[in-house]
Amino acid sequence: MSEHLTVVDHPLVQHKLTLMRDKGASSAEFRRLLHEITLLLAYEITREMPMTTRAIETPMEEMDAPILAGKKLALVSILRAGNGMLDGVLELIPSARVGFVGLYRDEATLKPVQYYFKVPEGLNNRVVIVVDPMLATGNSSAAAIDLLKQAGATDIRFLCLLAAPEGVARMKEAHPDVPIVTASIDRGLNSKGYIMPGLGDAGDRMFGTK
Ligand code: URA
Repeated sequence: MSEHLTVVDHPLVQHKLTLMRDKGASSAEFRRLLHEITLLLAYEITREMPMTTRAIETPMEEMDAPILAGKKLALVSILRAGNGMLDGVLELIPSARVGFVGLYRDEATLKPVQYYFKVPEGLNNRVVIVVDPMLATGNSSAAAIDLLKQAGATDIRFLCLLAAPEGVARMKEAHPDVPIVTASIDRGLNSKGYIMPGLGDAGDRMFGTK
């Protein structure tokens, strides 16, 4: 993709995002809306997938018809909230392989520490779409992408629901080659690293935890 940052301001995306932000939305509604928005965001993040043509015959005549070039895809979910976006992308690209990265924040150093890393083989030959609904400080996203690059990935895209300007800046500094697609850039982070106005803790809202 050519742009570093794409904000999908489609009316359907913005409408559904408002319903998700509302604290009255139940966990079931929140998950359904996240799934639906992910379908629309995934449409945008796959816009520049490599294409080729295939010779086919319609009932009328022969034609060289456009078709995906078949570059393999990997989806990587940043645990745990990333899992809420996985099914949406898989619905559009069912053949994609799936990986998971688990990171927690060390409260002493405030640095992300890896606790789980399982990704498909041959990342160097795949388009890798990383999913995580909330791009807040950008520290865990940047760290996850460091790990994916160490594992061989060269063509990485980042799909999130909401982003803070701080997170976008951190990603641009750490990984200027990784395009970001999001539904909104919010005002900024509060002192606890939450996105404002945001939607709260995406994992808690998705899974009904506190
Ligand atoms: N993670 C969340 O779930 N929400 C935020 O606002 C920031 C990080």
